[in-house]
Amino acid sequence: MSLVIAIDGPSGSGKSSASKGVARRLGLRYLDTGAMYRAVTWWMLTQGVPVEDAEAVAARAGEPVLECGTDPDAPTIAVNGVDVSGPIRTREVTNAVSAVSAVPAVRERLVALQREIIGDGGIVVEGRDIGTVVAPDAPVKIFLTASEEARARRRARDLAHDPAATVELTQAEQARRDRLDSTRTTSPLTKAEDAVEIDSTSLSLPEVIEAVVRLAKESTAAG
Ligand code: DC
Repeated sequence: MSLVIAIDGPSGSGKSSASKGVARRLGLRYLDTGAMYRAVTWWMLTQGVPVEDAEAVAARAGEPVLECGTDPDAPTIAVNGVDVSGPIRTREVTNAVSAVSAVPAVRERLVALQREIIGDGGIVVEGRDIGTVVAPDAPVKIFLTASEEARARRRARDLAHDPAATVELTQAEQARRDRLDSTRTTSPLTKAEDAVEIDSTSLSLPEVIEAVVRLAKESTAAG
């Protein structure tokens, strides 16, 4: 298998920017698994499925067909042929995604698709369970963290177009999502034993990218 770099961590830790940056630097593909859980959540909401009802979500989990583009310069995500890259970032989807992603039938389907996309490797994959469940044999595993305040600040900046998304509200919603993602029964957010933890609170994006690229080069050199 060629190189697989797994980057896990809580929301707002800078995973997406770092993962894309590393993929560009090393000429690898890029997969955002959070976007896949968001896409299924968006589809459930548009279908009127009550997302807090795990049985109702499980019953429809086999229906949405996802297509994910893996170019780090232009990642794409579509559900049943509809481009959803914009709609999956709304607060409505963000606040519903933890419930949908806790349903085992949803995870089984998406993990299978993720492994198919990873294929022979050559990819940076970001998520919550990549190093623990999706690609436990990945030669490079990163657990990216940052203080709660730093993460909320970054998220609020991403949501600057939404006047309701103050730093305080974003921090409260994020804390709720992290709690749900870390305490769910199936594949909770947790650091793999062999992952390297990088705290990005006081690091710049180029510094985080550099740290991951160095680990990837060390791993490749070690064979
Ligand atoms: O990375 P993100 O914030 O876009 O992820 C959205 C949600 O998807 C997150 O709250 C938990 C879920 N998720 C997951 O359960 N497993 C993954 N590998 C990636 C994301």
